[in-house]
Amino acid sequence: MTADRENELLASIPTGLYIDGAWRPASTGAEFDVIDPATERVLARVADASPADGEAALAAAHAAQRDWARTAPRARAEILRRAFESVTERVDDFALAMTLEMGKPLAEARGEVAYGAEFLRWFSEEASRISGRFATAPDGANRLMVVRRPVGPSLFITPWNFPLAMATRKIAPAIAAGCTMVLKPAALTPLTALLLTSVLEDAGLPRGVLNVIPTTRAGAVTGPLIKDSRLRKLSFTGSTEVGRRLIADSADQVLRVSMELGGNAPFIVFEDADLDAAVDGAVLAKMRNGGEACVAANRFLVHTEVVDEFTERFTERMRSFTPARGTEPDSTIGPMVDAATCDKIESLVAGAVEGGAAVALGGVRPDGPGYFYPPTVLTGVPHDARILDEEIFGPVAPITTFATEEEAIRRANATPFGLVAFAYTQDLNRALRLAEELETGMLGINAGVVSNPAAPFGGVKQSGLGREGGFEGIEEFLEATYVGIADPFAANRS
Ligand code: SIN
Repeated sequence: MTADRENELLASIPTGLYIDGAWRPASTGAEFDVIDPATERVLARVADASPADGEAALAAAHAAQRDWARTAPRARAEILRRAFESVTERVDDFALAMTLEMGKPLAEARGEVAYGAEFLRWFSEEASRISGRFATAPDGANRLMVVRRPVGPSLFITPWNFPLAMATRKIAPAIAAGCTMVLKPAALTPLTALLLTSVLEDAGLPRGVLNVIPTTRAGAVTGPLIKDSRLRKLSFTGSTEVGRRLIADSADQVLRVSMELGGNAPFIVFEDADLDAAVDGAVLAKMRNGGEACVAANRFLVHTEVVDEFTERFTERMRSFTPARGTEPDSTIGPMVDAATCDKIESLVAGAVEGGAAVALGGVRPDGPGYFYPPTVLTGVPHDARILDEEIFGPVAPITTFATEEEAIRRANATPFGLVAFAYTQDLNRALRLAEELETGMLGINAGVVSNPAAPFGGVKQSGLGREGGFEGIEEFLEATYVGIADPFAANRS
């Protein structure tokens, strides 16, 4: 990858706010730096929205809502379809933007482009399938009609780890349902969202439907919007700690909320597992996105009969990763997104080792520049280690053991989180038991990745509320209005 190509792409990405169909600087003139986490150099400067800009964005979304709700579903579908085609054609641009601003290797970034674009395609197909219902009341008298309509102006707060897919997973169903929106992308990774905005603008999205306000003052800018009666929905992807505060703030206006929050995924390897498949799945579940995913395997629970063989083979695979800037052809793991992420990983590993865990691989943070942390495997991790309770968000695999299915389920469920679980077994009945007994929103059986735009992504317990993707994803943006109609045969009956 040449520096010229990087500079050419960076120069082509808009860096303003996008409000009411126009690109503009922040009202204060403020800008912030976007940093390359591999080099710690400044990639771009982006307009830093103020509370007044946030208000203008919501005003534009509110003003556009009525007309947008009345557009033909097919028209909304076609905008999404054109955006899907454009993102797919520009895979290299989107991939490079993501690699530069958040660090993942280009091959993985291309994978995210395919994943993120697919939400545009899936919801382009769903837009024209929104339907209500009509029924006769059980007593045979009144008629019951249910009409679906868009929830209304929505606020999206998206994370840095999947800068494209987490935006399209919210924007696409909102467009399909006829909602207008304000998007606040993560301040660490605004460039991908701004590039997506320009694609949606070119695809014909009317002014005011999507308004984008990168900011470093998240609370000051989004707080007043959440309390504003013009807003009807809030959708957030990020930590449980922040999600909890946003849910509390949303109570004033009784907003519809969707929350994709933290995870603490158990990866369970039973004694009957196909170990080749389990090792492949473990590498995927742990190392996708360098471990910076809420669905990343956070705790490995391995049956005592197979733990030695699993650990040896898994550690060898972890050893084969090549840390390097994501633009390097041989890079298979890029940097973490920032120094704070590395600090947290380092402290979790240190805590586990102090508690008695052994380091089978990695565990030593290299000198800079760049926020690198090496693939790390910890064995003999004590059950009370903090690393088993907190989201690691990095390439560290803590391995513990269990002796019975009952113990595996009990330990897997011993967390306030319930986003995803992974289990490797060849016993169909056991797999079905796990589906009923694990407290989780998603379960991978002999599969290290479950994310799919056609499936409902979301968690139970403190991992969140609502679902994104699949048939369920559009429901989050629709209200039901029930219309009771008097018995049309009443006159004939009397
Ligand atoms: C996340 O980690 O936030 C989402 C990952 C995914 O969609 O697979």
